[in-house]
Amino acid sequence: MTSTDRLAIFPGTFDPLTLGHVDVIRRSARLFDRVTVAVLVNREKQPMFSVEDRLRAIRASVAGLATVDVDAFEGLLVDYARRRGATAIVRGIRGVSDFDYEWQMALMNRHLDADIETVFLMPAEQFTYVSSRFVRDIIALGGPLEGLVPAPVLDLIAARRRGPTRRDA
Ligand code: PNS
Repeated sequence: MTSTDRLAIFPGTFDPLTLGHVDVIRRSARLFDRVTVAVLVNREKQPMFSVEDRLRAIRASVAGLATVDVDAFEGLLVDYARRRGATAIVRGIRGVSDFDYEWQMALMNRHLDADIETVFLMPAEQFTYVSSRFVRDIIALGGPLEGLVPAPVLDLIAARRRGPTRRDA
């Protein structure tokens, strides 16, 4: 990466990554020189998938996108973005119900660091109702996930449904 390259951070919990996230990552990669998908490590919350599983599934899902990398971060997002030399934070907005929270978060991040701009992108319409929260519900209740999450996440879910293997145990 050169000093003139524009890096965007796409932060989130990604518990798990959905096809809506992948759509936003693709759109970001067209707008910025480089994109980092940054997974928040939140020690206060108990996620469905470990950080390691999430990172592995995201890396496999974006493997075809040469300018996209995947990382984990802890603490304030703006501190991480500044450390990485990012110019923008990308967030996806699926509809008006996302807007209020995202707007407040963007303004708080601007308060914390006025140099880092938040950019909102809209995923394709077919992902408007797709969320990690609904996906977790469907996983817990044994429903079908095709068309909602990328193949590496389907593999992760299938492995989880099979139970721990000798190697994982
Ligand atoms: O996928 P999510 O859960 O909607 O992502 C939320 C995330 C990770 C972007 C947000 O919680 C975050 O940036 N957390 C880091 C802590 C922080 O910087 N908080 C101040 C901003 S309001």
